[in-house]
Amino acid sequence: MSARFDAPTLIGVKRDGGRLPDEAIDWLIAAYTDGRIADAQMAALLMAIYLRGMDAAETARWTAAMTDSGRRLDFRDLRRGGAPLPTVDKHSTGGVGDKITLPLVAVIAACGAAVPQASGRGLGHTGGTLDKLESIAGFDPRLSPARIAAQLRDVGAAIFAAGDLAPADAKLYALRDITGTVASLPLIASSVMSKKLAEGAGALVLDVKVGTGAFMTDPGRAAQLARTMVGLGRAHDVPVTALLTDMNTPLGRTAGNALEVAEVLEVLAGGGPPDVVELTVRLAAEMLALAGIDGRDPAQTLADGTAMDRFRAMIAAQGGDPEAPLPVAAHRETVTATRDGVMGPIDAMAVGLAVWRLGAGRSGPGQPVQHGAGIVIHRRPGEPVAAGEPVFSLYTDTPDRYPAAMAELDGGWSVGDTAPELRPLIIDRIVEP
Ligand code: URA
Repeated sequence: MSARFDAPTLIGVKRDGGRLPDEAIDWLIAAYTDGRIADAQMAALLMAIYLRGMDAAETARWTAAMTDSGRRLDFRDLRRGGAPLPTVDKHSTGGVGDKITLPLVAVIAACGAAVPQASGRGLGHTGGTLDKLESIAGFDPRLSPARIAAQLRDVGAAIFAAGDLAPADAKLYALRDITGTVASLPLIASSVMSKKLAEGAGALVLDVKVGTGAFMTDPGRAAQLARTMVGLGRAHDVPVTALLTDMNTPLGRTAGNALEVAEVLEVLAGGGPPDVVELTVRLAAEMLALAGIDGRDPAQTLADGTAMDRFRAMIAAQGGDPEAPLPVAAHRETVTATRDGVMGPIDAMAVGLAVWRLGAGRSGPGQPVQHGAGIVIHRRPGEPVAAGEPVFSLYTDTPDRYPAAMAELDGGWSVGDTAPELRPLIIDRIVEP
């Protein structure tokens, strides 16, 4: 097959607005995964796709080729106590302060379903679940398929590095992150769905973010992304429900790895910021409906400590120490209000970029992240604030990062005379392609 295709010709086809034939897509994904296409060539093709798009059939074939690039897990025979154990997962398209996966998997486990979740690292200005979990001492995201299955039976949740699931996505994801080609509808849809189809969950709930801190800023485009992913799931017999949720404002009061884990522990202890609790409970309800579990109240598992028990059990099963203190950055700077008033909107992108500048994310492939770096938001939009009071605390191990982080945050918030109009967190629910 390889003699039929070459990268320069296919890059030219897409650059000039043409369609990639099915077999050419299969060849491109296979050849890139095993190193026969150079990063420079794939980067050019990704930019052509970013600018020209892919139609529904191209996107479906690209997704299938990525899913087929590695191993596929299958939990259809999973049982607990002799009864079938339903599996269901959720995936977010990426946001700022988006720590929802952590309480959510624990809630679902406490309600009697199981969550096999292949997770990623930070992408651009957005945080990654694995980076957050690795701020817990000892936590290991590398699990074999047998260990995943055992952990799903024993604990009800496993969060693991994709490893040999959809390895094409791992390579493409890293390349997109450093070539300005993340925010492409077919590339996001195929990236998310190839991983999720390969991980083998029986059903999927998608949290499609829309707003300044999301990869999709336009609600119409976000809805189109959601419909595309629902359709890709349907084509592979995986039921998918998508919620469109607001990402103009960071979620909760923290952004940055260990800071977010600390906030998750508050949520699991029955407290925490209302928006984090609301989104967790709402996504949990959708997941339980798809898993066929009736009569369980997700909010109750946060109030009665059963979700906290599942979270601690998952951390311990993956080598983490739930008792270990979380890392704290060596330096803290505080931003204070210069006047009395009401906190106005806080731009999620400004916070995401500032957190990234503080060292919580990467600027090159494979770089380590600072687990203690990030931002605490002391005043959320609509909360009263007095002159001189702290509005944000910025944490980092490397204080020479402060000027760049402060510059990102500047202009991303304000204090006004009246409360800003607060947007609904849940914008839409999409179940049809
Ligand atoms: N999440 C993913 O898994 N892939 C993307 O491209 C964006 C968000």
